[in-house]
Amino acid sequence: MEKEIIKLLKQKINENYSIELDEIKLENPPKKDLWDFAFGCFVLSKDLKKSPAQISQELAGIIKNEDIIEEASAAGPYLNIKVSKSIFTNSFYMLYNYLYNDKNYFTWNIDLYKWKTVVIDYIGANVWKPLHIGHMCTPNQGQAIINVYRKLGYKVIADSHIGDWWIIFGKLIKAYKLWWNEEKLHENAIEHLLELYVKATDEAEKHSHLDEDYRNEFKLLSEWNLESVGLWREFTKYSIDAAQVQLDRLHIKPDYNIGESFYEGLWLPKMEDYPDLKYDMHSIVEELIKKWIATQNEDGSVWVVFDEEEKIPSCVLQKRDGTHWYLASDLAAIKYRMENWAPEKIVYFVDVRQQLHLKQAFTIAKKVGWLWNTELMHAYNWFISLKDWAMSTRKWRIIKLDKLLDEAEERAKKILLEKRDDITWSELEELSKIIWIWAIKYWYLKKSRETDVVFDWDEFMSFEGNSWPYIQYAYVRAVRILENYWKSLSEENIWSLELSEEVELVKAIWSYFFILEKTKDTAMPHHLCAYAYDLTKTFNAFYNNVPVLNETDESKKMIRLKLVKLFSLVIKDCFNLLWIDMPEKM
Ligand code: ARG
Repeated sequence: MEKEIIKLLKQKINENYSIELDEIKLENPPKKDLWDFAFGCFVLSKDLKKSPAQISQELAGIIKNEDIIEEASAAGPYLNIKVSKSIFTNSFYMLYNYLYNDKNYFTWNIDLYKWKTVVIDYIGANVWKPLHIGHMCTPNQGQAIINVYRKLGYKVIADSHIGDWWIIFGKLIKAYKLWWNEEKLHENAIEHLLELYVKATDEAEKHSHLDEDYRNEFKLLSEWNLESVGLWREFTKYSIDAAQVQLDRLHIKPDYNIGESFYEGLWLPKMEDYPDLKYDMHSIVEELIKKWIATQNEDGSVWVVFDEEEKIPSCVLQKRDGTHWYLASDLAAIKYRMENWAPEKIVYFVDVRQQLHLKQAFTIAKKVGWLWNTELMHAYNWFISLKDWAMSTRKWRIIKLDKLLDEAEERAKKILLEKRDDITWSELEELSKIIWIWAIKYWYLKKSRETDVVFDWDEFMSFEGNSWPYIQYAYVRAVRILENYWKSLSEENIWSLELSEEVELVKAIWSYFFILEKTKDTAMPHHLCAYAYDLTKTFNAFYNNVPVLNETDESKKMIRLKLVKLFSLVIKDCFNLLWIDMPEKM
């Protein structure tokens, strides 16, 4: 419907003012319930030598009596437009064909985006510790955005840039040699690694010579000592596997786990099949020095100093002892991704503490000329915490993701037992597994990633407001309505809408396409959640005020059933993208 309005505006502007506008952008009016679109008349004011307010007055008069316009009026420089119902009838018909008849309803977008690639950098866990509550953040957000891109037809490379290098491995290997315990290792390897790491840290506080030992162990690893590489591989493998067990529970799966170590160019054993490395960190540092972007100090360290107007603090690429700072691995990763995948965009789902680091990396990559037209975006998130816990690994005060998910399951059971006294044991098992995880995931994803969130058990299981149970409930209701009547529906070609509730529902469904684009562009899944909630509210208003199954007029009933069907399809689709299941029963 937007297209029709744009076409009309172009035509009328041309007829009345002899101006050809290439592009017209419609905006959302502040009062969405009164108006459908707003057009800012600023763009015309220069050519017409009139004020935008005057133009909006005139335009309102010009388009007022058109068929597809219900009402038009000026609000200062803006022209507010309300579209007539007939145009929604048209949209309804189109939506139905997109969403229902033609299962592949994104073909138009697939043509648009078919040749494009994006790289999503997310998860990026450090390999020596189990996933924790913080891993609710970037894995869930990144995965939702990956799904949206794929839905729109993009090729996506989902890469978990794991932390599998640096001095930590010196610590781990040394601690392993000193204190490892075979039994514990077999029982729960990742847990044991954390234990070793904590011990290594604590012991070094008491015995300062240990730090030296850790450095030496790391040096051995960097020099490709066979035993060290063997241990490195084992530890890394344990960690990736253990992390994937938890990620599977949340339906998260990267294509690759390409670690920081890979960019050292040591040819450490690969655990997946990704392209080989052409430019390692050494060659990157050399290139930057050669191009006058980095300079080497007398002590051997290599630095990047930025131009004054960039207002970015200088940073180190290579330390005195020749080892690299992790900026070098991020730069190597950018070059590698450009070389192999030539993405349109690389989106980094990494927490806000890395803001400066990534800004430095992005600025350098641009300067050195690797980027062409590729956009680098840091989709940072703020923190998640549980009310009384601080998130520190060192002192064991870590809220592990598996514990969190287990506890959620227990709580869901309790709630179910309270709410349904008829529930059977197997039903309880099955439902609690579903409910907890999706409620929790939705609860998290509906928050903007640019806010801190505090985990509150009472909040996420709420059946009111913007929550998974609320939306799920409406979905089940829709499925139930359709169950008995859908098959008997006649395929008559009737699409006229008469009630405002019907029109509102069509409008809400229609905006799905715009929301997908917005979610993709901002890399913010909460837009999708806000949409799902609004759509559900609109559906409930429709369902509560308009008879569907009780309607005696067969054509009207048919139209309404089709609307219910569209609602169920779109809401299911939304949740598919968030990778949240929607059971058909509750
Ligand atoms: N692993 C680093 C850390 O935990 C962050 C790396 C950020 N870069 C990235 N490409 N994800 O401090």
